[in-house]
Amino acid sequence: MEDLSILNASELITLNPIEGLGILKNASISIKGGKISNIGLPKLAKKEIDAKGKVVMPGFIDPHTHLIFGGSRANEFELRIKGKTYEEIANCGGGIINTVNATREASEKELFESAMGRLNYALCWGTTTMEVKSGYGLSLRDELKILKVIKKLNDAQPITLIPTFLGAHEIPPEKKKGEYIQELINEMIPKASKFAKFCDVFCEKGVFTKEEAKKILQCGLKFGLKPKIHADELSSSGGSELAGEIGAISADHVVYPSFQGIKLMKKAETIAVLLPGTCLFLGHKPSVKKLIDAGIPIAIGSDFNPGSSPILSMPIIIGLACILLKLTPAQAIIASTINSAYALGLGNRIGSLELGKDADIIILNVSSYKEIPYWFGFNPVQTVICRGEPACLP
Ligand code: NIG
Ligand code: FE
Repeated sequence: MEDLSILNASELITLNPIEGLGILKNASISIKGGKISNIGLPKLAKKEIDAKGKVVMPGFIDPHTHLIFGGSRANEFELRIKGKTYEEIANCGGGIINTVNATREASEKELFESAMGRLNYALCWGTTTMEVKSGYGLSLRDELKILKVIKKLNDAQPITLIPTFLGAHEIPPEKKKGEYIQELINEMIPKASKFAKFCDVFCEKGVFTKEEAKKILQCGLKFGLKPKIHADELSSSGGSELAGEIGAISADHVVYPSFQGIKLMKKAETIAVLLPGTCLFLGHKPSVKKLIDAGIPIAIGSDFNPGSSPILSMPIIIGLACILLKLTPAQAIIASTINSAYALGLGNRIGSLELGKDADIIILNVSSYKEIPYWFGFNPVQTVICRGEPACLP
């Protein structure tokens, strides 16, 4: 007998790779031992949930967040409304460094508690896996503090967290850039590699150049960290090109990719992680068509952070992806599930409803997937199941 059966879903969105969304109508799904054990016809189980009139699909996978930080940047939000740009604010000591100061002051316990509240919120909106970056510490002590908080949070709540080391998020105010890069390479990456799966760099004009980012990511590779890149977010800075050259698993943002960058990404099978929350807050209009026409797989994420995207809800991100990036609802669902799974190197375990995969499943109070972006700002999530266990929504 199965542990749990979800019966008669109006649409069971399987995301079977051969069929795109792979929708099964009036279909059921069962779980045993935390894995998907049956798809299609109803099967007897110890517990049953009636999903008549509802969408059942894989939990959302958020492949890019900066979840752990102290303080808030609501004042910068107001400055931007009054006309200052993100770069101008950063050049006056605001921006990332503002949050670095607040994060350094925060204790591990304070960071844990604030992030726990955020994770409860994301869970209610259907996120079952989330990538989480460090990057607001910029010193060995503070970066390790953040990575340890991620590890503790992973054990303390239902969302699966995938840690990324982003020590190269900015240059700390007390150091020269060259000195900090040496510290990253000689000290921080070797130690951080015990706590992270990926290494990320903010490759951008005024932050880390393409050559510097390459050095840092190559060091990460030496210690087993797969490369990700904040690429061409504010300007064309060589990030997409580097992503292709180094074989990064993903290039993130890609608002201003060069022609060559797109070509190299395609060749290296690098996934483009697009972040429409940031596009909304910073007024960017990326040309997604170029990427899609080139055959680059698209994932979408929240980029949740206190500066450029204080949005953590994946249904809202899906809505923004449709409205701002012109993804169709089907493309946005694929981008926030199976393609996000691949952007985290987890495509064989999560992101679709297939036999033997982890039972990360959500039940939505809508009868068609097309209603997810359409009812913008409405939370359609009724039930969240993480690795077979119905999660208790706060
Ligand atoms: O992805 N660009 C770098 N990191 C974040 C912004 C961080 C911040 O403003 O605090 C981003 O947009
Ligand atoms: Fe980011």
